[in-house]
Amino acid sequence: MRRKLVAGNWKMNKSFAEAEDLLNELYDALESKTSSNVDVVVCPPSIYLEMAVDFSETGIISVGAQDVSKYENGAYTGEISAQMLNSMQVEYCIVGHSERRKYHNETDADIAQKTNILLKHEITPIVCCGEVLDERESNNHFNVVKKQISDSLFHLDPLDFAKVIIAYEPVWAIGTGHTATPEQAQEMHAFIRQTVEEKYGKEIAKKLPILYGGSCNAKNAHDLFTQPDVDGGLIGGASLVAQDFVTIANAF
Ligand code: 13P
Repeated sequence: MRRKLVAGNWKMNKSFAEAEDLLNELYDALESKTSSNVDVVVCPPSIYLEMAVDFSETGIISVGAQDVSKYENGAYTGEISAQMLNSMQVEYCIVGHSERRKYHNETDADIAQKTNILLKHEITPIVCCGEVLDERESNNHFNVVKKQISDSLFHLDPLDFAKVIIAYEPVWAIGTGHTATPEQAQEMHAFIRQTVEEKYGKEIAKKLPILYGGSCNAKNAHDLFTQPDVDGGLIGGASLVAQDFVTIANAF
């Protein structure tokens, strides 16, 4: 059986006190949740990682960062390295989010470098891909996603590739309320798995966790997560409300 995972991407939200409240609420709500075969990850702003790691010591939640520097260390003002994240017991890191691609000009080559450096420091990369609306409307979405994952991941050897998680986040669905239908999500997830199978073979493709992200909420999560190739979600807005996030984590 494939690993199931729900990750909350808080993006640039919450004051220190609000972050602490949310972690407390999540902790209380998740403690009583029964399903133990779902990994629940929170990805707060980096300034709150230490606090989140303290909560994660209970084993109920794991912690991820939202980004990492592509460089090892040195004169890169404002950046946070994979080594630093590892030394803080951060286990996951989102890479290549469409907001980083759009507002920080991040390229597939950058994402490849970030993935390499995370794997080197034993952090699990959650690598994002997804088309914009024009690309879907012109029926180019499969080509776009194939190119993104090939250019950012297919340089990896099979052992390293097997440590990666892919998140399919159609850009037109992020923060818009226009969730992909379960059929659209399933179609793209199956395509991603097929593309991975062609490169790395059936065994690795079968085990790859592929998350869906984009206006996933407490109401639609179950229909998405019960699709055969959808292994969980990367959740934005709904991860900022403890009860919604916990409902999503239980939506398999
Ligand atoms: P929303 O769930 O707010 O649409 O955001 C999705 C996302 O970008 C998660 O990384």
